[in-house]
Amino acid sequence: MNTIKVEYNTSNKKEILETASSIISNGGLVVFPTETVYGIGGNALNGEAIANIYKAKGRPSDNPLIIHLYDKNQVTEYASEISDYAQKLMDYFWPGPLTMVFKKTDKVKRYLTGGLDTVAIRVPANEIVLGILEHSKLPICAPSANTSGRPSSTTFDHVVEDLDGKVEMIINGGKSVIGIESTVLDVTTEQPVILRPGKITKEDLETVLGIKVRVTDSLKKEIKDAPKAPGMKYKHYAPKGELEIVRGNASEFQNTLNNINLSDDTCIIASTEYLSNINHKNVYNLGSITNLDEISQNVFAAFRYMDEVNIKKMYIQLFDNKGFGVAINNRILKASSKK
Ligand code: TXA
Ligand code: MG
Repeated sequence: MNTIKVEYNTSNKKEILETASSIISNGGLVVFPTETVYGIGGNALNGEAIANIYKAKGRPSDNPLIIHLYDKNQVTEYASEISDYAQKLMDYFWPGPLTMVFKKTDKVKRYLTGGLDTVAIRVPANEIVLGILEHSKLPICAPSANTSGRPSSTTFDHVVEDLDGKVEMIINGGKSVIGIESTVLDVTTEQPVILRPGKITKEDLETVLGIKVRVTDSLKKEIKDAPKAPGMKYKHYAPKGELEIVRGNASEFQNTLNNINLSDDTCIIASTEYLSNINHKNVYNLGSITNLDEISQNVFAAFRYMDEVNIKKMYIQLFDNKGFGVAINNRILKASSKK
């Protein structure tokens, strides 16, 4: 397939949104930016388009997709029950990086929910994806625009690497502002449960709701077991080489790594603070630990860069496990799981 590749700018926006919308209306796939990561979008009501999304990503069909909507008022078409607290969160956080899992209506087919009777929905906050949603007047499924198992794409180049020739169109909208995927929250239970941590944190949700938010047991286990066995369950978001976590504060990190003889195909990925006093020549600076927004923008790009320059072994730090740090650590832990 010959993929149309375009850069979105003020002079061509109308034309791009029209082309993208008509491709999606006709059952095709378009990669567009969202505020979190790039998404590979297709019409949620078209089974063939959805099958093609799974195929283009090489994604197992039991892993459900998120429906993206233009407006929160459309949710009742797809969600059969909306609790008071879910409504509060929609009002407060949408458009934005919060995905909520609801009981589904019959309009939502099981080919996109992995056979579940629930559905994940979000209203994204990015001009390009919102423009396509508005123009096409369709619900759009959009998983992250990467080959299954690889780090999510946060730049146009990442998308082209994984999906050129597999989709009708790729829109370049610059570097993703957030850089990691949305928070996924189960709102089908009395108390909301975080299934995937993201930019909108447990604390953010609790502040708005005034009730406790739970963290799913598998996430709790991951955090608790982290010091002993970094992500033993399965691998995700991963670079091709081996990624090892080095725990401790900056000086412990530096001591550990300065005492190992590191070969040329080894790289240390860390914050500016942790990299000061590191003797090894191959380092990748994620930004300052005082600015987690910058760190999160760079994590997936760092992993992809390691593949590009053929790094076989990487060492990486973890961040303070609170607030947005929880989501960043989650992605690092998943990427470090043993093959
Ligand atoms: O930020 C994002 O959410 C990006 C952008 C493109 O919007 N999308 C994204 O989609 O990350 P994807 O498909 O890569 O991740 C969707 C996550 C998966 O972890 C999936 O298992 C979970 O949401 N999910 C989807 N439907 C679900 C459901 N009914 N119940 C539980 N989890 C669900
Ligand atoms: Mg994904």
